[in-house]
Amino acid sequence: MSRPQRVLITGAAGGMATLLRPRLAQPGRVLRLLDIAEVPTRDDGAEIVRASITDPAAMEAACADVDVLLHLGGLSTEHGWAKILEANIHGAYVTLEAARRCGVRRAILASSNHAIGFVGTQDGEIDAAAFPRPDTNYGVSKVALEALGSLYADRYGMEVIAVRIGSCFERPRDARMLRTWLSPDDAARLVEACIAASAPGFRVIWGASANTRHWVSLAGARALGYVPQDDSERYAAGLAAPQRNLDPADPSLQRVGGAWCGPDWNTAEKEPERQS
Ligand SMILES: NC(=O)c1ccc[n+]([C@@H]2O[C@H](COP(=O)([O-])OP(=O)(O)OC[C@H]3O[C@@H](n4cnc5c(N)ncnc54)[C@H](O)[C@@H]3O)[C@@H](O)[C@H]2O)c1
Repeated sequence: MSRPQRVLITGAAGGMATLLRPRLAQPGRVLRLLDIAEVPTRDDGAEIVRASITDPAAMEAACADVDVLLHLGGLSTEHGWAKILEANIHGAYVTLEAARRCGVRRAILASSNHAIGFVGTQDGEIDAAAFPRPDTNYGVSKVALEALGSLYADRYGMEVIAVRIGSCFERPRDARMLRTWLSPDDAARLVEACIAASAPGFRVIWGASANTRHWVSLAGARALGYVPQDDSERYAAGLAAPQRNLDPADPSLQRVGGAWCGPDWNTAEKEPERQS
């Protein structure tokens, strides 16, 4: 009997992994679910690992016999520099290095729209692999994640797909998410495409559904075999009135990162003391 395909998911207690867990379960596949927080045990044959992505020994143990790494772990919102550096940048390095040492062939990395947050939305469809313009410390950490992925592909021959995820939730919550929404089902379709793609090398792609009001191109994701089936438009009428009628000239719709490009996300000015 052939060995099952083993997929290691970091950040497995988080929102996206919780949505993906049942959708990625398949005969012939074992999900290994890793988080620093407790991951619920279910009757689905998943292997649960409680560990930090910043712990090299634990990550090497977790990467044993793994075919595909789906790296979702880390801080998913803005924080001060020290926390972002440790969890998102150092954590990404430790995870990829453990994967390399264990011979993991393929890594799918959860990058973010905030890696290109300051890119304007007014000049037509944005190239998914547009040069980084991070909007926050968090955005910088996603650029670093992509750079690490590029290094591990070019230097060590790993196949690495960095997905600039838009907004992956059950449904879009505001006017901006009508542009950036990635439905849970499409998220699973995208991950499956990333797993199945033949010799992808290193790529940076956009992770969103086929939204009528999209900003960023899905060409890179489609080239990997992704066929999105959802469109945020069917939720537009159900949004609360201020969001439903939001003027396209509203500042929150002028840049990919939305409100994160505004003054509330001026993290450096909020840091209580110097970081070095
Ligand atoms: N959900 C989205 O719309 C979205 C958009 C863009 C990018 N992303 C990225 O996708 C990934 C998943 O997003 P999410 O919404 O599920 O985030 P989430 O915050 O719900 O989940 C992240 C998980 O990572 C875990 N984690 C944090 N530090 C860790 C550590 N040191 N070791 C192990 N685990 C650790 C947390 O406990 C949490 O369960 C994140 O990397 C996020 O930045 C998500």
